[in-house]
Amino acid sequence: MLAPILLLLGTTLPSRVLSLAVPEKRLENKVGRTPALGWNSWNQAQCNAATASVVMQTAKAFVDLGLKDLGYVYVNIDDCWSTKTRNATGHLVADPAKFPKGMDGLARDIHAMGLKLGLYGDAGLLTCAGYPGSYSYEQKDADTLAQWGVDYWKFDNCLTEKPYINGGIKSSQYYPIMRDALLKTGKPILFSICQWGRDEVWTWGAKVGNSWRMSEDVQNSWASVASIAAKAATIYQYSAPGGFNDLDMMELGNGKLTEAEERAHFGLWAIMKSPIIMGTDMTKLKASTLNIIKNKVCRLAKSNLALRRSDADKTKAILAINQDPLGKAATTFTPKGKAGPASGKLYKYYAGPLLGGGVVVGLVAADGAETLAVNFTDVPGLGEGSFSWTELYSGRNGTGTLVSQALGSNDMAIFKVW
Ligand SMILES: *[C@@H]1O[C@H](CO)[C@@H](O)[C@H](O)[C@H]1NC(C)=O
Ligand SMILES: *[C@@H]1O[C@H](CO)[C@@H](O)[C@H](O)[C@H]1NC(C)=O
Ligand SMILES: *[C@@H]1O[C@H](CO)[C@@H](O)[C@H](O)[C@H]1NC(C)=O
Repeated sequence: MLAPILLLLGTTLPSRVLSLAVPEKRLENKVGRTPALGWNSWNQAQCNAATASVVMQTAKAFVDLGLKDLGYVYVNIDDCWSTKTRNATGHLVADPAKFPKGMDGLARDIHAMGLKLGLYGDAGLLTCAGYPGSYSYEQKDADTLAQWGVDYWKFDNCLTEKPYINGGIKSSQYYPIMRDALLKTGKPILFSICQWGRDEVWTWGAKVGNSWRMSEDVQNSWASVASIAAKAATIYQYSAPGGFNDLDMMELGNGKLTEAEERAHFGLWAIMKSPIIMGTDMTKLKASTLNIIKNKVCRLAKSNLALRRSDADKTKAILAINQDPLGKAATTFTPKGKAGPASGKLYKYYAGPLLGGGVVVGLVAADGAETLAVNFTDVPGLGEGSFSWTELYSGRNGTGTLVSQALGSNDMAIFKVW
């Protein structure tokens, strides 16, 4: 009701107030309609993984392990790929020792495998590891990416104090410079904003990028995973096709999470519609980790409306929820008689809508091993009556008015209910 009134009074209101009444225009650049699935070099071995040989091994693993067929297509190089200085014409140059065929040569090889190549840059003077930043070179760099055939651009926020922040220029003002430069190339390049959740990026990120990191960097620990998920649940409403909260890269496979915690990490990222960017050596995945990221165990019901699109979906139900064209992130709900979510603490009960009228329900044993139960009357989007359900990690299924599952500490169950 407020919006039309603000519009009528618009000329006399300060622009900050008026902007509340203007419909948000989300970035439309033909990519990123669903969250990106792929890999990034950083969590695997920081600068040491930013080489053509690691990238090609990862790409081969994506194909050989069947991950490409499930939608994991972005093979992304993080910091440390370029030379320490620009060349005589001011262009970024791929380090020839790390990328013997150049970045265009690598992009050709990656594309020939049916995959996409991502690169990393920085909005400031230098990247976080001290390589050239894109400040004042935005169009030149965007043109170079387009010329090389790069498909995805992660844009970090180091050394932005001097050119921007000290002068009172906020990230909401300087991130659009690179957005506009990428748009001007005419090549669809997924724009991944990485400014660590500053300046309430979720409130404006969708106008600028296809995803935006909403927190500090994830650490290789359950506490870090849990705190990021807790925060993401409070800003779920900003994710939609074309732009999503980015909960940061995955720590699966890096040795600090139990199998149960890997299920919860993957499951929470998936139902909250985060990009799922693996950050481990894909040639050395344990079978349990591989099964989680392929969601191999599950069997789907025939009447499952949203996930019925192809036979392949029957082995990737949790990925299909992440990739649901409806693009709405799950968030917490409070069952009758239970305490509601506490700030900063991982909650146990999640739900979100799916295309075709189904609902995904997530249960997390966040306070240790426990049997968690949910009455469908308490779930937003469900209600009275009997529903069919499948638990997507086990394939267990049934019909009724509630679901219940015994879970080990920090384990997660994900129910598709319809
Ligand atoms: C600098 O690099 C760009 C892109 O890699 C290239 O097109 C250009 O020719 C190079 N300039 C010089 C002087 O080598
Ligand atoms: C439910 O699970 C049983 C046992 O695993 C399986 O045989 C059946 O096909 C499943 N039903 C549906 C509707 O998925
Ligand atoms: C579910 O909740 C409804 C409404 O509060 C109640 O009538 C029903 O008995 C509950 N069902 C179960 C199985 O607890």
